[in-house]
Amino acid sequence: MKPFYWGVASSAFQTEGYVQNDMTDWEALGGFRQDGKNPLYQNGSAHWLHWQDDFRLLEQIGVTAYRFSVEWARIEPERGQIDQAALDQYERMVDRMLELNIEPFLTLHHFTHPTWFHAQTPWTSELAQEAFCRFAHILLNRLGDRIRYWITFNEPLVWALAAYGDAKFPPGKSNLNEMMLALKNMLKTHSCLYRHIKSAFPLAQVGIAKHFIIFAPGRNWLAVDRSLTDLIHHFFNEMIPQAFKSNRLKFRFPLLFNFDEPIDLNNQIDFWGVNYYYRMLASFRLNLRKPIHFAFKDASGEGLTDMGWEIYSEGLARILKLVAGYGKDIYITENGIATGNDALRMRFMDAHIQQALKAEQMGLPVKGYFYWSFLDNYEWLEGNSKRFGLVHVDYKQNFVRTLKQSATHYARLISIDRTKRQTKNLKKF
Ligand code: FCB
Repeated sequence: MKPFYWGVASSAFQTEGYVQNDMTDWEALGGFRQDGKNPLYQNGSAHWLHWQDDFRLLEQIGVTAYRFSVEWARIEPERGQIDQAALDQYERMVDRMLELNIEPFLTLHHFTHPTWFHAQTPWTSELAQEAFCRFAHILLNRLGDRIRYWITFNEPLVWALAAYGDAKFPPGKSNLNEMMLALKNMLKTHSCLYRHIKSAFPLAQVGIAKHFIIFAPGRNWLAVDRSLTDLIHHFFNEMIPQAFKSNRLKFRFPLLFNFDEPIDLNNQIDFWGVNYYYRMLASFRLNLRKPIHFAFKDASGEGLTDMGWEIYSEGLARILKLVAGYGKDIYITENGIATGNDALRMRFMDAHIQQALKAEQMGLPVKGYFYWSFLDNYEWLEGNSKRFGLVHVDYKQNFVRTLKQSATHYARLISIDRTKRQTKNLKKF
């Protein structure tokens, strides 16, 4: 029987620091902020330097799994040139996790690329697959015997939308056909990697961490808002999982957009990672360039986060039910809140974890929960102003770490649940 994993999640770029990649280039060009102010990165949470201390904090929280990503730009800063020292450090990190009995969940792609990538092998071209697989193989050769859980891509649709839909991420394009093409190449790359990983390490579990959102009509009384909500729900939540089953990547937005192409995915995925944060309202606007308006409202009464997002814990149960329908294991690979109010963070955790455990008890294949994020870190469009962490990072004082009360709270939840499961298992024998 596979255990239930209790973890925290992070990504390389957001926490490590001391790297140059497509995002730092983009920031230097003023790409992130409308007012052109930069830079904001300031080395994430300096985890690349402080990882040993940070792993002691993981131990203190008592997590049984840690989701992290590897920074491609660090491993291959120039095309074809591999930085062995960086690889060595990732290996030491993985070995340390294993020593601490923490299961590593390794994400290969979490939004960032080496500086040379978009000019030479962008995701809109077939060359991307070869370049990315070369990087993935380096990790597979070095760490494949110790990594059981691989997440090939984090939120491929979110990335494609930000990079090719509304020009928020590099390469900063706004072209829906290119967006779908980039997405298609990423998914093809996933399925190719799936075959490679499984043939080298048959026990490995390979999945994708996908962002899921609860959409609701802005004006429930308006039929057009209701249809729009269904359409967006299909596009954002269902299009990719359905493509895994039907081998077609397709989406149609009446009058505006139509994409329908074959794709060889053959349901090659072991688990869906669920990244869940909020409910969002969608309203139709008579504006061909921007026909959809999104907004947040505290309709649940659970409050809004510092990102302005609506907290809606019941939504997690709804998403888990939806994803269970795809017939694969489920890990909640991200769920968390940006807030300066740690009591609110604890309420957020309690409410969402309760929904996750209820779903598991109802027989849904939920196998783990990862709080986003381990440390306060760099949030893509917001810099370090938004604090998601269980661990406070003092950006002004040498990145000093302090466990928040919510970290101790999470530690307690984990410990209670683990004891419960052990007792239950003992009773079975
Ligand atoms: C998700 C991203 C993650 C983090 C959270 C807040 O969409 O995967 O890196 O920024 O949002």
